[in-house]
Amino acid sequence: MVVGDRGDIQFVNQTLADMFGYSLEELLGKPVEILLPEQHLAAHRRHVENYARRPEPRPMGAGRDLEGVSKDGRRFPVEIGLQPAQTYSGWIVVATLIDITKRKAIEERLRKHEERLEELVAERTWELREAQREKERVLEHLIQAEKMTAVGTLVSGIGHEINNPLYVVLATAEALTDEEDLARCRAYGHEILKQAKDIAETVKNLSQYAQPGARHDLQRVDINASIAGAVRLARRALRDDRIEIKTTTSPAPDILAKPEEIRQVVFNIIRNAIQAIADKGLIEIHTAQEGDWVAVRIQDTGAGIPNEHLKRVFDPFFTTKGPDEGEGLGLYIVHQIVTRYRGTIDVENPAGGGARFVIRFPIADQKNAEEERP
Ligand SMILES: Nc1ncnc2c1ncn2[C@@H]1O[C@H](COP(=O)(O)OP(=O)(O)OP(=O)(O)O)[C@@H](O)[C@H]1O
Ligand SMILES: [Mg+2]
Repeated sequence: MVVGDRGDIQFVNQTLADMFGYSLEELLGKPVEILLPEQHLAAHRRHVENYARRPEPRPMGAGRDLEGVSKDGRRFPVEIGLQPAQTYSGWIVVATLIDITKRKAIEERLRKHEERLEELVAERTWELREAQREKERVLEHLIQAEKMTAVGTLVSGIGHEINNPLYVVLATAEALTDEEDLARCRAYGHEILKQAKDIAETVKNLSQYAQPGARHDLQRVDINASIAGAVRLARRALRDDRIEIKTTTSPAPDILAKPEEIRQVVFNIIRNAIQAIADKGLIEIHTAQEGDWVAVRIQDTGAGIPNEHLKRVFDPFFTTKGPDEGEGLGLYIVHQIVTRYRGTIDVENPAGGGARFVIRFPIADQKNAEEERP
């Protein structure tokens, strides 16, 4: 349509008249404001004044959101382009209007879609985080459960270990009740003390092993001490004279871990080694610092691991043992614990036969050990 400088409609085409529900005659000569909703009139007048002072073309889509109102009062979004022109009788403005109801509806749908998408992403992120937490909880339980199964098999062996000194304690105590010689009484007392300490040590080892690790209870751990603890436990529990366990350690910096989990790692590997040795055999454990790592090598003279199994031994439930002997969880747990401390574990078949496990733990940072939590 063409609008004169007094705001009167001088020319209008059929499409625009249809858009607003008027006939051509109804619009010609009328103020352009009949096409605007009430609320916009004041703003429109200001606009027209400004525009009259500095008329310049305004392309489509360059303005704010505008609304038109049809003859029957229906309001709808429009886009307007303005093109001013000078005539003999003054300024006119050629206004081009497009009904953008459909476009607005699509934009609105798009916006809702985006909102929904963002909601979904947020939901999914939350779910993933929950799943991760759940996984950690399950792993924590699994580690503990596996430990308790191991404790189960230990207990019968340890029963002997406790029974022997207990028998000595009982017999000596009985002798003590009839003894009148003070020097002998003292000697019996010392014997009882020695045996009882032995029992206490065994029980302490076992309960330390069985203890669940507090969730954020990382400590500086001397790997050599952990290994000594695991070896002591294995020796007592598995009571296998045919197998020698030899440890060659060199002083190594501490690592940051839960001590009982490090014992669990070493103990599980020793247990496998003992199970893999059919007759007489040797298990060698060696520690060394390698740069920023502490490396532990555990090698046995057992049957070795067939090459096709090497990649699978850390899988959960992979076992070559009978149902009563193994669940296939030992090395899975070992792997989980080691990687949780950002360590690595490898297995190989050394030239001389048997199996060799190599574990590397990062050494604890000297300064900010407290912050370094997995
Ligand atoms: N030192 C080893 N020598 C030979 N084979 C081994 C050795 N260590 C592990 N394996 C093999 O890896 C498999 C998986 O070991 P893992 O400790 O995970 O389970 P498991 O010992 O069978 O059962 P679990 O430890 O749950 O009692 C074993 O069944 C065995 O075949
Ligand atoms: Mg095992």
